[in-house]
Amino acid sequence: MSAWPEATQERARQIISRYPEKRSAVMPLLYLAMAEDGHLTEDGMAEVAEWCGITPAQVQSVASFYTMYKRERTGQYLVSCCTSISCMLLGGDDVLHAVEDESGVPHGETDEEGLLSVEHVECIGACGGAPAVQVNYELIEGVTPEKARDLVGWLKDARPSVVNTDEMQELFGGPRSFDWGIREEEGAVGPYPAFQPLGTVGKE
Ligand code: FES
Repeated sequence: MSAWPEATQERARQIISRYPEKRSAVMPLLYLAMAEDGHLTEDGMAEVAEWCGITPAQVQSVASFYTMYKRERTGQYLVSCCTSISCMLLGGDDVLHAVEDESGVPHGETDEEGLLSVEHVECIGACGGAPAVQVNYELIEGVTPEKARDLVGWLKDARPSVVNTDEMQELFGGPRSFDWGIREEEGAVGPYPAFQPLGTVGKE
């Protein structure tokens, strides 16, 4: 008997139907569980284990391996600043410090309100558009420290219900590497990081 609401269960069924084995759906279902609770809880992981027909320990072994699965409370907007080599050479550390300074949130932490979490991350695959930043895993390339401050101010003031890479690139980005992603209009919805192409994000 699932503890998830019917709409979430329906999404779980849709996700599982894409795979020949239901256990193969463990990763997108973990995002679904994260979307449900705001972060991965013990109950959420147990639910995923039920859906996948595997043990909670097996689910936890996947969840604990990948840093993008958040097992602690995360803000509505997760700002991830790349500080790996390409971004570092083009000012990624300065972008991170600008985000930390403007938000008042140091790397690895969340503000008291639960609005913003800040983290520095290893290469996010946008080296050609360095320095790169993500908000709820939606990408912005060619970010300057000044634009990073503007981005934080925008998140605080506008509090968009959906963040979309194209909109944020237009507002806060610079030179872009290339369009590598599937173009889609919905973006990511907080208070959790999630991915629309996997069906883990609902429409507003
Ligand atoms: S080094 Fe930053 S995206 Fe690759």
